[in-house]
Amino acid sequence: MSSTGVLRSTVSRIRRAGSHQHPAPTAGRSKRGLFPAERSIPRPDSSLGGYGLGNDRFEQVALVSIGRMNMAGLRPEHDVLDIGCGIGRIARYLCAYLDSTSRYEGFDVVEEPVHWCRQNITPLFPNFTFQFTPLFNARYNTDASSTSAATFRFPYPDESFDFVFAHSIFTHLVPDEANNYLREIVRVLRRGGTTYCTWILFKEGSPDYNHAIVSRMHRDRSGSYALLEPDMPGRAGGYDEQFVLDAYRASGLQLTGPIHPGFLIQDAIVATK
Ligand SMILES: C[S@@+](CC[C@H](N)C(=O)[O-])C[C@H]1O[C@@H](n2cnc3c(N)ncnc32)[C@H](O)[C@@H]1O
Repeated sequence: MSSTGVLRSTVSRIRRAGSHQHPAPTAGRSKRGLFPAERSIPRPDSSLGGYGLGNDRFEQVALVSIGRMNMAGLRPEHDVLDIGCGIGRIARYLCAYLDSTSRYEGFDVVEEPVHWCRQNITPLFPNFTFQFTPLFNARYNTDASSTSAATFRFPYPDESFDFVFAHSIFTHLVPDEANNYLREIVRVLRRGGTTYCTWILFKEGSPDYNHAIVSRMHRDRSGSYALLEPDMPGRAGGYDEQFVLDAYRASGLQLTGPIHPGFLIQDAIVATK
């Protein structure tokens, strides 16, 4: 599609979305009109988990992520996978950005937010699909009978996405799970496709990007993984930068550009297949 075509389709999409009859949330009224598609989607109740709901962080994190992903090469015509989509914090801003012919898929290990997204986003934007994948996670899904993320196969065919992202997911994965997710990202990405993932990284001998949290973490025996709570691997973890870069290379991904250092959100790595 030409750039004029992209612009026209995005504008018509925003207009269509803006015509939905959902009440606008009261907070941030001065921003009305900037993201009409996003504002056409109800704001989830803050009882639905710790996604920054009920404060400015909800919006700020999403907008910084969208900006960074755009710099990483995300385009309206892309088919997009959101690993650990949560309550759709980023999806709701992508609704205005992606073409109606582009596919968005999100999955998460907690059922309630996925159900919320299905009820509140998909009816307005049918190209946005959400799946519940009951995998074990020490923080989010402690049902011991759940499948392990270390052997999980993403529920999508090979080479079916142009852009795969994971915001604040690898911080909840132990090394075996993280390595499996990198392999799965490579499997579902089309050749030339891009992946944007956030991590909490640390580096020996230089100030940690996310020093505030890393300084509270405990390194494991290997030294390449650090945990906030040593007895709870997978609750919140940081990784040695070199370990992660080696894992990307081993999985066949090529790093593009420098790591985006974490400030409001975590460090982000962009790579292509
Ligand atoms: C901090 S939240 C981030 C959610 C979302 N990406 C966002 O930015 O709002 C972490 C999310 O990771 C999900 N999660 C935990 N383990 C996961 C796994 N193995 N695969 C996919 N998602 C997972 C949790 O259920 C939770 O929704």
